[in-house]
Amino acid sequence: MPAVGGIGPANGKAYPGNLTPFVTITCIVAAMGGLIFGYDIGISGGVTSMDSFLKKFFPSVYDKQHADTSTNQYCKFDSQTLTMFTSSLYLAALLASLVASSVTRIFGRRLSMLVGGILFCIGAIINGFAEAVWMLIVGRMLLGFGIGFANQSVPLYLSEMAPYKYRGALNIGFQLSITIGILVANVLNYFFSKIKGGWGWRLSLGGAVVPALIITVGSLFLTDTPNSMIERGQLEGAKKKLIKIRGVENVDEEYDDLVAASEASKKVEHPWRNLLQAKYRPHLTMAILIPFFQQLTGINVIMFYAPVLFKTIGFGSDASLMSAVITGLVNVLATLVSIYGVDKWGRRFLFLEGGLQMLICQIAVAAFIGAKFGVDGEPGELPKWYAVVVVLFICIYVSGFAWSWGPLGWLVPSEIFPLEIRSAAQSINVSVNMIFTFLIAQVFLTMLCHLKFGLFLFFAFWVLVMSIFIYFFLPETKGVPIEEMAIVWKNHWYWGKYIPDDALPHVANGNLEMGYGVKSV
Ligand code: BGC
Repeated sequence: MPAVGGIGPANGKAYPGNLTPFVTITCIVAAMGGLIFGYDIGISGGVTSMDSFLKKFFPSVYDKQHADTSTNQYCKFDSQTLTMFTSSLYLAALLASLVASSVTRIFGRRLSMLVGGILFCIGAIINGFAEAVWMLIVGRMLLGFGIGFANQSVPLYLSEMAPYKYRGALNIGFQLSITIGILVANVLNYFFSKIKGGWGWRLSLGGAVVPALIITVGSLFLTDTPNSMIERGQLEGAKKKLIKIRGVENVDEEYDDLVAASEASKKVEHPWRNLLQAKYRPHLTMAILIPFFQQLTGINVIMFYAPVLFKTIGFGSDASLMSAVITGLVNVLATLVSIYGVDKWGRRFLFLEGGLQMLICQIAVAAFIGAKFGVDGEPGELPKWYAVVVVLFICIYVSGFAWSWGPLGWLVPSEIFPLEIRSAAQSINVSVNMIFTFLIAQVFLTMLCHLKFGLFLFFAFWVLVMSIFIYFFLPETKGVPIEEMAIVWKNHWYWGKYIPDDALPHVANGNLEMGYGVKSV
């Protein structure tokens, strides 16, 4: 387990408690909620490059691809119908996450996970047996609803459950599951696409029932978080739970702080409207900008379209699916690095290092593709070393994302909101994430066609902007208990002015602790 860095007893709160087997297992099970999201991200790109799938559901796309004799590689796959299939899910997820906000707050985090698992399961079955496009779309909408519920509740669950010193590592279990889901899906696509008779896509799409069952059954065994139990008035149960989770008898201090946070949260009747108050300005800004920036790294261009992209660069169809497997593997392994480092080196370091790494790689990929394909998209003969170098840079880029914006895009929003707005703000995080995932999925092929290699420079520009933003505006949150986060904002050079003194946890008893939070700049 990662060593604990940052704030110790001398300059902040240090609740007693261990990384108990109970909390570890609970968090592993909950984190598996990420599998459904990851499986879907990985499966869609591969399935839409299978000829048998296209012939059955999107014959015009298939015909166009095969009739296209132009050698302009940038525009070969530009089809709105096909991208609509991939991206429809994200609109459904967006809507579901808004509904999930109330379910998560009123009925607990666990119920949202259960609902998510069940909806996803039904969607997967419909897709596996699909005979017509409408079945595909209905199935994908159900998958989207499932993801909306899971992504809204799982990160909150993990951040509340974890002892604060290990919160980063345990929360990133969610992103690890996402990456494992993507990898497994890529590998399965590779093999299923080879099935004679061309029905392998049914296994790819139907296979989603497996991760769906894991989270559905898993959530039946999970217990709710003490924070959520207190929020729902189950005080006695919450205390017992906290003792069990932390593995120590003396949980009074943490318990009292949870109750205090819950009292404060009870005064808030309209979490959505409240989000507009000035004192939540930093939180609202992060709930919108972090997922927006995460998608503007361009990662899903690789995740959804790696096979198509690699085909464009000149790989055969088999080799391009294979390269998607390689990037998938890099994605998983690099996520482990952030599990190791996030509570040690902190969030800001990972954000900034990962950003720099992505920036360099995007410029390099743009230069390589630009040099060979030019503006007319006609590469001529491509040497093998060339493709290898491009894949190498894409892998370094993916690893940069996988230890920065990937996991932190879910971790940071789940740990910075006060309890009273946590569920609503997390829904905003998920919705913004989904809408930009949708937009990128929807416009990527058109953008490639028009911007050509400049597309990579477009994303490079955004990575630069987001890194500057993090440098100036995101305070470090490692090692700070979740219900104490107000102090971090109060200490920030810019956001401090928005946080009223009575929002601070200990001001009431004259015990204001200002030890948290490094002044960022
Ligand atoms: C993002 C996804 C992305 C995945 C890649 C997640 O954190 O939200 O959009 O596809 O990481 O690993």
